[in-house]
Amino acid sequence: MSQRLSLSRAAHLIGTTRAALQKQIASGELVSSDGTVSTAELQALYPDLRIEDSGAFERITQIRDEAFGKRIRERVLPNQEILAQRLALQSEELEDVRRHLAHYHDMIEALRERIEQMSGASAAEQIAELADFLDVSLARVLGSEEPTDTIQVMDNVLRVMSAHVTVKPSGHEFFVEGSETVLQAALRAGLAPSYGCGNGNCGLCKARIIAGQTQQVQQSDYPLSASERTQGYALLCSHTAVSDLVIEMLEANAPEDIPQQEIVAKVRSVAALTPNIMLLHLQTPRSSRLRFLAGQRVALSVTGSTANFRGEYAIASCPCDDRNVLLHVCHDEEDAFASRLFAGAIRANDAVSLFGPFGDFVLQKDSPNDSVFVVCDSGFAPVKSLIEHAVASDLPGALRLIWAATRADGHYLENQCRAWADVIETFSYITLLADSPGVAGAQAAARALAEEDIKARDVYVVGPSEFVEAAHQRLVSAGLPAAQLRVEVL
Ligand code: FES
Repeated sequence: MSQRLSLSRAAHLIGTTRAALQKQIASGELVSSDGTVSTAELQALYPDLRIEDSGAFERITQIRDEAFGKRIRERVLPNQEILAQRLALQSEELEDVRRHLAHYHDMIEALRERIEQMSGASAAEQIAELADFLDVSLARVLGSEEPTDTIQVMDNVLRVMSAHVTVKPSGHEFFVEGSETVLQAALRAGLAPSYGCGNGNCGLCKARIIAGQTQQVQQSDYPLSASERTQGYALLCSHTAVSDLVIEMLEANAPEDIPQQEIVAKVRSVAALTPNIMLLHLQTPRSSRLRFLAGQRVALSVTGSTANFRGEYAIASCPCDDRNVLLHVCHDEEDAFASRLFAGAIRANDAVSLFGPFGDFVLQKDSPNDSVFVVCDSGFAPVKSLIEHAVASDLPGALRLIWAATRADGHYLENQCRAWADVIETFSYITLLADSPGVAGAQAAARALAEEDIKARDVYVVGPSEFVEAAHQRLVSAGLPAAQLRVEVL
């Protein structure tokens, strides 16, 4: 008996994205009804799917590997194959029992109808007819060779390992895996929940649990009032999901919903991406993480210095990893912070003060359009953050990058683009080389306009002012609606 799964659960199970499934629905390969698909149809589309192939299973394995020390794991838990096999066997048995129950139910219904139709026959005829009917029906039930619904079995297994969360009022959905907190899972899924310390102290992450069960997994000092407890409030940073949940949670919809923060972070590493661009990796304390939207900037200054060694840079990492902040800092004699960084005066373990976030170069998240990123040189930094966030959020549209460079080494993370193109079905990119930002802007805009139906796309332009001006002018005069164009000058 085929079951129905929500698109997000089906995508989670198969190890693909919701966008990829939506594409199959749009092309007619897969039929959807009320936002759900049948396990039988999925099975027909993915006949060779095994539990081990599921992306969700891999992620769970990874979480478990991170969560347990090797020795404890070996002593306390069965290894992953045994665990998966046991759960799969149990699920198959459950599925078998469920199928037989459904057959018996059908048989009893048919028997009732048959008795109603036999009112004119003699008692002996009735008994003989009923005996024949039962023989045939039982043979059909017991000898049934209807195949086990593998997708349903996999769903049963994954339900044991991860819980599904629906957020009200936005309708966003995500999965809590292993024993991660609901907050960690929401961030990993690209959501922008309300939170502060991430550590059980501020109360900003409190949310109402409308349905389902949670369990505290991290210490918290914030006292919920008696009335909040009665209404079902819980701190998302210290609770995990025991069962599927429906929660009422505040989310940031725009940059103004994110508070300004000041955090002292530690330098994890400094590495040259090119002779002209440094990768600076900062890590915030566990109890003071940076809340920001993808595409925003932060200001940095050397902690404890009386001189004003300060600069402002686009964040090149995803808000889903709020402790590890990556920045691509360009060499600039007039930038005091960058000058110190290039002079080797800022090193691993140094303290750096971080202020922000700033800027509104953020994703248009509720837009159904494809996105085109028109980038020059280190403008790749905020776009890297946007693309990583779009992928984490499972945005429905395709992602296209047009990366122009004014130096031969300007495509300094092209290997990253290649890796995305290999694994993200909806991502593609091209690179261009030009001798000045203005020419690069005009060329990149021309390439963007050559995309089919540019008016149905959201376009993000970022780079030096000459580049942005040239690209902006061409895109607008070609009829791109202003609401679909976002620009950022670096
Ligand atoms: S984020 Fe501060 S208590 Fe949860």
